[in-house]
Amino acid sequence: MFITFEGPEGCGKSTHAKKLKTFLEGKGFQVLLTQEPGGTQVGKHIRGLLLDPQNVLDEKTEIYLFAADRTEHVSKVIKPALASGKIVVSDRYTDSTLAYQIGGRNLPEDLVEYIVNASSKDLKPDLTILLDVSPEIGIKRATQASAPDRFEKEKLEFHENVRKKYLEIAEKNHSRVKTINTDKKGIEEIQSEIRQIVEKKFRKQ
Ligand SMILES: Nc1ncnc2c1ncn2[C@@H]1O[C@H](COP(=O)(O)OP(=O)(O)OP(=O)(O)O)[C@@H](O)[C@H]1O
Ligand SMILES: [Mg+2]
Repeated sequence: MFITFEGPEGCGKSTHAKKLKTFLEGKGFQVLLTQEPGGTQVGKHIRGLLLDPQNVLDEKTEIYLFAADRTEHVSKVIKPALASGKIVVSDRYTDSTLAYQIGGRNLPEDLVEYIVNASSKDLKPDLTILLDVSPEIGIKRATQASAPDRFEKEKLEFHENVRKKYLEIAEKNHSRVKTINTDKKGIEEIQSEIRQIVEKKFRKQ
């Protein structure tokens, strides 16, 4: 099974991806926890380029870097892990590109969709947990512990557009994408909802 965590800055993706891995391992599954950008050796360099607030990138350069990261990630990490019977949990995947590059950067939908399909080699998640958050709350959370990265530095309107696109994706893909609003819920309550969603998915498979 391939599970992805999605959502705007500071929604709790990394926190919940880690907790879900622990839960699933406790059930006896082998789990690979990975992330985008930066799920491979080369990807870690690409992540550095993408997140460094000193770098000013053309939005096409940006999407090509994300596409290069994903191409490496899918072929060298995700597909081999799935083939060996592991559950793969990825902290961000294709919906991030759709939400950030169409919603946030306003790139043409057909271009972004083409690049997303080409770089993911048509590998779709079985389940996506969208952790929704209002931008004010998310950015506050994300920048409490560390200096803002290149995306966290974007203006509020950018984050609002990313969020809107995520919600639109969820609406169009309601059997794959399950949305939890995290504005007012604590981490444990959210994790318990995530576990219920995942267990329900297992029962259906
Ligand atoms: N529901 C919540 N309520 C309060 N704080 C939270 C909640 N979820 C996560 N946090 C805190 O917010 C911060 C950001 O969480 P986390 O790093 O998991 O988010 P993220 O979605 O991975 O962010 P990024 O997009 O920056 O990678 C952490 O300090 C985490 O403990
Ligand atoms: Mg994170």
